[in-house]
Amino acid sequence: MTADAYYIDGVRLPIGRARDSGYYADTRADDMAVRAIRALLDRNGSVPRERIDDVVWAATAQVGDQGLTLGRSLAILAGLGRGVPGYALDRMCAGALTAIVNGANAIKVGAQDLVLAGGVEHMGHHPMAAEVDPNPRFLADGLVDASALVMGNTAENLHDNHPEVSRERCDEYALLSQERTAKAQADGVFASHVVPMTVFSDDGWRVVDVDEHPRPGTTLDDLAGLTSPFRPGGFVTAGNAAGLNDGAGGVLLASQAAVEEFGLSPRMKLVDYAFVGVEPETMGYGPIPATEKLLGRTGLALDDIDVIDMNEAFAVQCVAFLDHFGLPIDSDRVNPYGGAIAMGHPLAFSGARLAMQVATYLERNPDARLGLTTMCVGLGMGAAVLWERA
Ligand SMILES: CC(C)(COP(=O)(O)OP(=O)(O)OC[C@H]1O[C@@H](n2cnc3c(N)ncnc32)[C@H](O)[C@@H]1OP(=O)(O)O)[C@@H](O)C(=O)NCCC(=O)NCCS
Repeated sequence: MTADAYYIDGVRLPIGRARDSGYYADTRADDMAVRAIRALLDRNGSVPRERIDDVVWAATAQVGDQGLTLGRSLAILAGLGRGVPGYALDRMCAGALTAIVNGANAIKVGAQDLVLAGGVEHMGHHPMAAEVDPNPRFLADGLVDASALVMGNTAENLHDNHPEVSRERCDEYALLSQERTAKAQADGVFASHVVPMTVFSDDGWRVVDVDEHPRPGTTLDDLAGLTSPFRPGGFVTAGNAAGLNDGAGGVLLASQAAVEEFGLSPRMKLVDYAFVGVEPETMGYGPIPATEKLLGRTGLALDDIDVIDMNEAFAVQCVAFLDHFGLPIDSDRVNPYGGAIAMGHPLAFSGARLAMQVATYLERNPDARLGLTTMCVGLGMGAAVLWERA
């Protein structure tokens, strides 16, 4: 017998571009996470900070300003009190999603009542894979092909396996991501979970309050003109891939007892989840078997799910997913607010954004009941989490 674990609220910073002129070039990653945590707790002021049972925080690069056991260091830096523990975890792109699952599990077994779970990735300070030293046996012993270690190459490989997912369809999908993100921005969808941050730059202090990565004026011609940096004549471009970004945010999870004690309003509960391993050379396939596994566990069909928020690491992976489940490229149940192709993908943070967007969708669509968050993960994994309106 397990208890319910409720999603109460979520907060993220505007996503920045990981470049010298980007929002957060001169801002520490841990300070970004602290800003998100403080804003989240300010919004939920009935929860005493010292009553948080754990801070579970993900980062792919766990060094420098993302080192020092993030969850615990964030608890101290955010002023939660010395009695609040925390830990850091890494499942690459699914870091925050794993943090949320772990936090929910601690609540479900009755060990904890209030958990902060989220992620941060400052890809400007920690360029992808720059600080790792992959074991030489990966390649020397043929455990993986060299392409498995470069995510863009895995996306090109996915194109090889799915010739029906043409470059044109991927660009069409990428355009949709830009258009939907722009519409959601204009409709105030992100206002429910994006908080501004004051940052320092060469021009002095400024407040950033809108995602930096989207290119709302994008056209199909613009996208068609881009070439692949990953393979001569390849299909994966800066226009139909997620960007390189800086971002932070997290969610507040609570037990029924905490909901009652602090008068909280649960938005949804975490029903079940699945993680799977797939071929590392085509890691983008991961959301398909992860979703199949989750559907199998719960006895649901994909048609039962009202909204799917899928991380858009690469358009090819999203179109392959839609094809697999017989959905059109412009299915209004999948990424209704756009996704990482437009918004950007600060690796370990992104899963928290997906959860926030499902919560926002359920709030704005009273007839919707079930939501799914799904992601592909480096080295060949897939993640899927099922949510139900509380
Ligand atoms: C594809 C990739 C290498 C491109 O990197 P980049 O060159 O730094 O990308 P940018 O966003 O700066 O775009 C480069 C140029 O392409 C053009 N461009 C990109 N998107 C565009 C769009 N939607 N419309 C028109 N032009 C576009 C622009 O000219 C842009 O230059 P600018 O920003 O100076 O205007 C990088 O985004 C990448 O590696 N993405 C995948 C990340 C990843 O693997 N994540 C993990 C997934 S598992």
